[in-house]
Amino acid sequence: MKLVIVDDYDALSRAGADWLIEAIQEQPEAAIVAATGNTPTGMYIELAQYRSRGLVDTSRLRVFQLDAYLGLPPDDHRALFSWTRRSFIEPLGIAEENVVRLAGDAPDPWEACRYYEATVHEVGGFDLSILGLGPNGHLGFNEPPSPPDASTRVVDLTPESIVSNGRYWGGEEQVPRQALTCGMDLLLKARRTLLLVSGTHKHQIVHRAVEGPQTPDVPASFLQSAINVTVLVDWAAWRGQ
Ligand code: F6R
Repeated sequence: MKLVIVDDYDALSRAGADWLIEAIQEQPEAAIVAATGNTPTGMYIELAQYRSRGLVDTSRLRVFQLDAYLGLPPDDHRALFSWTRRSFIEPLGIAEENVVRLAGDAPDPWEACRYYEATVHEVGGFDLSILGLGPNGHLGFNEPPSPPDASTRVVDLTPESIVSNGRYWGGEEQVPRQALTCGMDLLLKARRTLLLVSGTHKHQIVHRAVEGPQTPDVPASFLQSAINVTVLVDWAAWRGQ
């Protein structure tokens, strides 16, 4: 695990974009799983600016949705797929046929999970994984406790995630209680991973993830044993002030 500490959120977004550009230049058709959330937003904007200046071709990436709320259609503006579309797929010029959804609205969500897993296996696993760190140590919606072999599945959200996501829903009582998530097993096998962490509120959990014991209670701690993981943290998160 390589730890890179940068000054602030802007520096994190720039450093993350540089990391991604290098990876995409090496492998323009990389299979990439891309988190939503606040943390990677600045990095995606940077990346889109590089693309619009013709400095990187992102259009051939094959994109996999990381997680989805149960029961929401993909075009609902609160659905994580529509967030991925707004922040990543459209600004980076990726064709819809190169996007694999995790279908939270499928009549049989467990079947949707099996289909997603089969599709990831068909492309040989993820080349790139872009992750944010949940306040409870989750990756995607692999809520604690999640062992390293947890599959792609339907999960109950923890109270902490419900509270944390309330800001996107106009109150925690509005947040769906269940979600689909790409499993730990697929994420931990990615050939390259970038974990982004920003802000004082992530101080304790980033130290537990990076330096603490590897435990299902902090799913992100299992990244310590994964290959080619870069953790990009700003000083606010690292120092807690
Ligand atoms: C979102 C996701 C989540 C977030 C995490 C951090 O697709 O998978 O695991 O990455 O909750 O969210 P932010 O970046 O909003 O603090």
